[in-house]
Amino acid sequence: MSSGNDGKDGGKNGSGKDAGGGKKVPGSSARKPTGRYGDALHQRVKTAKGRTASSNRWLSRQLNDPYVRKAKADGYRSRAAYKLVELDEKFALVRKARHIIDLGIAPGGWAQLIRRINPKAAVVGIDLLPVDPIEGVTIFEMDFMADHAPDTLIEALGAQPDLVLSDMAANTVGHKQTDHLRTMGLVEAAAHFAVDHLVEGGAFVAKVLAGGTDNELLALLKQHFKTVKHAKPPASRKASSEWYVIAQGRKPRVAIAVESEDSDEA
Ligand SMILES: C[S@@+](CC[C@H](N)C(=O)[O-])C[C@H]1O[C@@H](n2cnc3c(N)ncnc32)[C@H](O)[C@@H]1O
Repeated sequence: MSSGNDGKDGGKNGSGKDAGGGKKVPGSSARKPTGRYGDALHQRVKTAKGRTASSNRWLSRQLNDPYVRKAKADGYRSRAAYKLVELDEKFALVRKARHIIDLGIAPGGWAQLIRRINPKAAVVGIDLLPVDPIEGVTIFEMDFMADHAPDTLIEALGAQPDLVLSDMAANTVGHKQTDHLRTMGLVEAAAHFAVDHLVEGGAFVAKVLAGGTDNELLALLKQHFKTVKHAKPPASRKASSEWYVIAQGRKPRVAIAVESEDSDEA
């Protein structure tokens, strides 16, 4: 099995230590890294005994990816951090939030970024994989699909979240349809969690795969949020089928009850 985990980037490059807490937010520019990061010469990977062709391709992509270099320079554990930088610049998500849930937190790039942008926010994250500690972030090594996971997260946060982020991606098995269904299953579970727990006005962001959000999920989000948009941040690799769905403005629960009563009568 290979992993759909973009966080691998950080695993290979990250210091494992949180460099958070500073005022300046490295990488907080929507521009693709250029010059110092973007213009470096293409590095060739030397062939090594025992390394497969796909490992060589991965290594070459890592060595020549400006976001990987920038993540290393900025002290982020993963290049994924820049996707959230770009989404936040466009949709003002993190800087306004006070209680944040980070689903699929490993290796921790998003959580590091959150701490830098908004150090006062309470942050709770979950992942199947172990994550090195990040100051100010409560992390559970747990399957989000486990029955007790949602309650565990809310209890640890000590409040209803105003931002639920999901960067979860299922391990890929190489069968496109299966991989798609597995990751979309995670997105659906995350969406239901967000709908059940977000405060009024709260926001939900999730990684979805090509084809965007399927009709049922889109209907659910449109029913419960004022706006639902899709975006592919520049840091998301062009070759990757990932997109992000951004649902903002959790509607008041009473209003939704009245809306659905009206539609029942119509
Ligand atoms: C792309 S990575 C997340 C990168 C992260 N946002 C960052 O900035 O470093 C996706 C993560 O989702 C996690 N994941 C997949 N299925 C999960 C599940 N059922 N419960 C919790 N985490 C899961 C994977 O273990 C993986 O670490």
